[in-house]
Amino acid sequence: MLDIINKAAATHELAREEIVRLLRDTDFMPELLAAADRVRKHYKGDEVHLRGLIEFSNRCKQNCLYCGLRRDNQNIERYRLEPDEIIELARKAKDYGYKTVVLQSGEDDYYTVDRMCYIIRKIKELDVAITISAGEKNQAEYRAYKEAGADRYLLRIETTDEQLYHRLDPGMSFANRIRCLQDLKSLGYEVGTGCMVGLPGQTVESLAEDILFFKQIDADMIGIGPFIPNQDTPLGEARGGAFELSLKVMAITRLLLPDINIPATTAMESLHPNGRMIALQSGANVVMPNVTEGEYRRLYALYPGKICINDTPGHCRACITGKIQAIGRKVSGSYGFRHN
Ligand code: 5AD
Ligand code: SF4
Ligand code: FES
Repeated sequence: MLDIINKAAATHELAREEIVRLLRDTDFMPELLAAADRVRKHYKGDEVHLRGLIEFSNRCKQNCLYCGLRRDNQNIERYRLEPDEIIELARKAKDYGYKTVVLQSGEDDYYTVDRMCYIIRKIKELDVAITISAGEKNQAEYRAYKEAGADRYLLRIETTDEQLYHRLDPGMSFANRIRCLQDLKSLGYEVGTGCMVGLPGQTVESLAEDILFFKQIDADMIGIGPFIPNQDTPLGEARGGAFELSLKVMAITRLLLPDINIPATTAMESLHPNGRMIALQSGANVVMPNVTEGEYRRLYALYPGKICINDTPGHCRACITGKIQAIGRKVSGSYGFRHN
């Protein structure tokens, strides 16, 4: 196993079978995570990039079986922020010192291309990098956002197992999701994708394919988190708890894509009280503190146990800064693009 880990750390290449062996192994997990930490340090240094996350609407027209925002979930109160409210939150994020704001929502058609471009243009005046995470759009929309000033786009592939994808995301098309990622790349975005780990029916072979897919499309950012069963969804009784496997998928991703940005995801910390710091010491170099205010945090309920739902943006900033310093890392003052 050590030979595979060393090969990955030196060449950043592995065959699918080698990835599968690493994912199945339980004895050499400390060595795997330590190798990812070294590669992170070599390529990205000790700076951690903070991205202020604004969850601007929990309405969604899609019906993903795993997600609490799915349209058939009648158990959550829905909200959407007006464009000027979103801009105001971005201003606060800038005041907290965040160099990037991430605008995330369900797939909500209230935000027409004109509304989105207004929001993006206004936020761009604040001199922050802008990441959008609002789902599948057509190429013209992605182009308009880019021209308005968006820098990055997050769209997880969720799983590269096409059959599983179509089972879990009824009414959505795997081919269209790939089209979206290709359009985003060709428009010059920094493109983020990623997957969930521990989905019902997901195999380690398909997780290996996910990692190879990230490399194949030359992703600039990869977000990986455990699947967490949500009682308000059809997968409420499914098995969860894939914290360690998620860490391994993340660590292998760092070994194979050494210079990309990798967040320590909120879902990791929702399963383990120190999940994000463990992730930062296993290959990750980004954290996305929440800047959503009031009860909207609680209502943005993708899965249960989400951290920080009763905390304020100011508290989260102090909290995360302290934790980062406590593990000997520093908060970056730069925009945190992949190449800079
Ligand atoms: N558990 C973990 N992650 C989830 N997401 C949605 N539902 C869940 C869940 N139950 C993730 C998806 C989506 C991201 C915004 O949240 O990967 O892309
Ligand atoms: Fe909507 Fe995204 Fe949730 Fe699917 S994962 S239901 S697209 S918010
Ligand atoms: Fe929100 Fe720690 S980051 S309370």
